[in-house]
Amino acid sequence: MTETAPSPQELVPQPVQVHPIPNATFTLTPDTKIVLATEAAHHPAARLAEVLRPSTGYDLEITTEPSSNAILFDTGETAEEGYELDVTATGVTIRATTPAGHFNAVATLRQLLPPEVEAKSEQPVEWRIPGVRIEDHPRYPHRGAMLDVTRHFFTPDQVKNYIDQLAAFKINHLHLHLSDDQGWRLEIKSWPQLTNIGGRTEVGTRTGDFFYTQAEYKDLVEYARARGMTVIPEFDMPGHTNAAQSSYANLNADNTRRDPYTGIEVGFSSLAIHEDITYEFIEDVIREVAAITPGPYLHIGGDEALTTPDADYEAFMTRALPLVEKYGKTAIGWHEFIKTTTDTGPVVQFWNQTTADENVAAAAKRGTRVILSPANRVYLDMKYTEDTELGLKWAGVVEVRDSYDWDPGSYLEGVPEDRVLGVEAPLWTETAETPADLEFLAFPRLPAAAELGWSPRATHDWDDFARRLGAQARRWKVQGINYYRSPQVPWQD
Ligand code: ACM
Repeated sequence: MTETAPSPQELVPQPVQVHPIPNATFTLTPDTKIVLATEAAHHPAARLAEVLRPSTGYDLEITTEPSSNAILFDTGETAEEGYELDVTATGVTIRATTPAGHFNAVATLRQLLPPEVEAKSEQPVEWRIPGVRIEDHPRYPHRGAMLDVTRHFFTPDQVKNYIDQLAAFKINHLHLHLSDDQGWRLEIKSWPQLTNIGGRTEVGTRTGDFFYTQAEYKDLVEYARARGMTVIPEFDMPGHTNAAQSSYANLNADNTRRDPYTGIEVGFSSLAIHEDITYEFIEDVIREVAAITPGPYLHIGGDEALTTPDADYEAFMTRALPLVEKYGKTAIGWHEFIKTTTDTGPVVQFWNQTTADENVAAAAKRGTRVILSPANRVYLDMKYTEDTELGLKWAGVVEVRDSYDWDPGSYLEGVPEDRVLGVEAPLWTETAETPADLEFLAFPRLPAAAELGWSPRATHDWDDFARRLGAQARRWKVQGINYYRSPQVPWQD
């Protein structure tokens, strides 16, 4: 039986302000009520009840009636996505102005409960929460994670599991990489062969129905939304397109279908830049995807189009970018695309290993917003050390301290704090085939990236982060997360 409440000094990401209240503890009981004083907290409160149910065995009532012995969700004067959380001996009060703020408070409250709260079955634990006052809001609006479901396919349930793991660290955007040379992963009703053919392969020898129906995708989007997360679908173009080109002959300049590709080379494919059918195709894809994507963004890739001449690449983007806008979405692209436009609407995602990029800097100067995903920092598929079995190392080996020890607000020359939309940690899956593989690569580097996106610059301190990370492992153990036991971290499991 756990007798003490967890410390409020072990949170990841670190909140803006944490004031412990010594000797005050609130203990959850089967009679504790979840009180809704604001409709903005409707989904977050339901999510809290759902999180608490398996491990506590309590089916906590959600009510709009004031009550003692309560977790109260109320309105407040907080920043966008911010919240205040007060734990006293008599109850918990959460104040926020938006559902996002309430979701973020729920993520914090979970980490204030004993680690056993993460168990799937009832635990003999006193559910003590330490007395504390927390005032918190994110440094950046975009805290993202990308999952590559093309190199290896992950089922909807496996993606949901990853969403749950991300939400625990206040990640609010899930970028799904849905098309590449090795596979096309979303049903497009006007181009059915994309999934009938392009959806059957991945890296290696396995074949199957490796795609999401539109109904399954909508369900994933809703699952993410119920955890405060927005899905960003990516269809990579004009390169990384072999799966589409193996599905339809007319997507090839020579009108000949390509063979499916199951290797891990990059940069060899290109859509037919000078054919109108290419733009009819991408407009159909964008139209269908925009219609089932409530979030504001649609990612069009644009990376590593190594066989597309520069003039063709620019001609392509000049036609493709307006199509995203036509269907009411904001385009995001990997940083290569930004040289083709002076429009400050599209968002640029930087993935290189340098700390200077003149095209990105010029765009930032004009007002373009930048998502930072430097490969040598936050690519979760890089090996941790030379001896790591999983992963690649074209951007070097990336230990957890490398992932943490950089400042997004001053990292890229000419990209100041106020042009940084946020930080995103991509997980490419050439070598990752199972949820355990995803976990090994994401933990503990994902929490490092999440903290960089959330916590104020003033809290940045490797030793303190390593200590808090080490405490988090007790929760990962309860959940069965297959994390990398980095020797850089004082693990407390
Ligand atoms: C990328 O890693 N090619 C975005």
